[in-house]
Amino acid sequence: MEAILEEASDKSESADKPLVKIDNLFAGYDESLILKDVSIVVPDNSVVALLGRNGVGKTTLLNTIVGLVPTTSGSIEFGSHRIEKMPVDKRARLGIGYVPQGRDIFPGLTVWENLNVSLRAGNVGDDNRLDEVFELFPVLKEMLKRKGGVLSGGQQQQLSIARALLLNPKLLILDEPTEGIQPSIIDQIEDAIYAIKKKHKVSIILVEQYIDFAKNASDAFYILERGSVVEQGSIGRLSDELTARYLMV
Ligand SMILES: Nc1ncnc2c1ncn2[C@@H]1O[C@H](COP(=O)(O)OP(=O)(O)O)[C@@H](O)[C@H]1O
Ligand SMILES: [Mg+2]
Repeated sequence: MEAILEEASDKSESADKPLVKIDNLFAGYDESLILKDVSIVVPDNSVVALLGRNGVGKTTLLNTIVGLVPTTSGSIEFGSHRIEKMPVDKRARLGIGYVPQGRDIFPGLTVWENLNVSLRAGNVGDDNRLDEVFELFPVLKEMLKRKGGVLSGGQQQQLSIARALLLNPKLLILDEPTEGIQPSIIDQIEDAIYAIKKKHKVSIILVEQYIDFAKNASDAFYILERGSVVEQGSIGRLSDELTARYLMV
């Protein structure tokens, strides 16, 4: 009976292969193993929230997915590729877009130059993508000549997300996009996440401390504690009790 069930689940898996499948991942830094036996699935066209208090390993997990932190053991599948040993740039070219914590824009370049770096790197040669990005974040179009460094925190975050989107990713990874941002812009970023998911058919991994935002924007969640997954499920399962136990400071 068990064998039959297993076979059935194998079949349904191959018919509906998730975009990202992380199995039994161990990873960390020279002297300290941070991630212990992490398994995560990101289905196609879904938003998965990665939650947990400060220091539990959220950013380390994102950095391991993009290749900035080496995998000690375990596997990371992206579509039909095994990527855990691939260099960072190759993973990016497969379609992994990363908006790191604290944003990564070029403060000394104008907004237009910042966008143009991605446009060229993305090799899309397609003004449509630029139009789509301006539709998501109209403020950027008004600020093309401003230096990135003089934008507000929220505008820089929008620019950072825009830069990642211009690379035409299949997976967009956002590390605390609302950190230090005023509420009105938080709403805009939330709307942008809906729109990105709907129009661009990308999946998103969202690390977020702001639980209401994560609940609104996500389909599923994983909670990390001390480098391991302690709870997971569809977003409806993220109860006040779990929030109090694992996420409240
Ligand atoms: N570059 C690094 N070298 C060594 N340890 C690190 C490094 N970056 C983070 N850590 C450690 O890894 C653990 C997880 O950190 P991090 O992944 O940043 O957590 P989170 O994003 O959940 O706040 C922490 O104990 C932190 O001190
Ligand atoms: Mg972090």
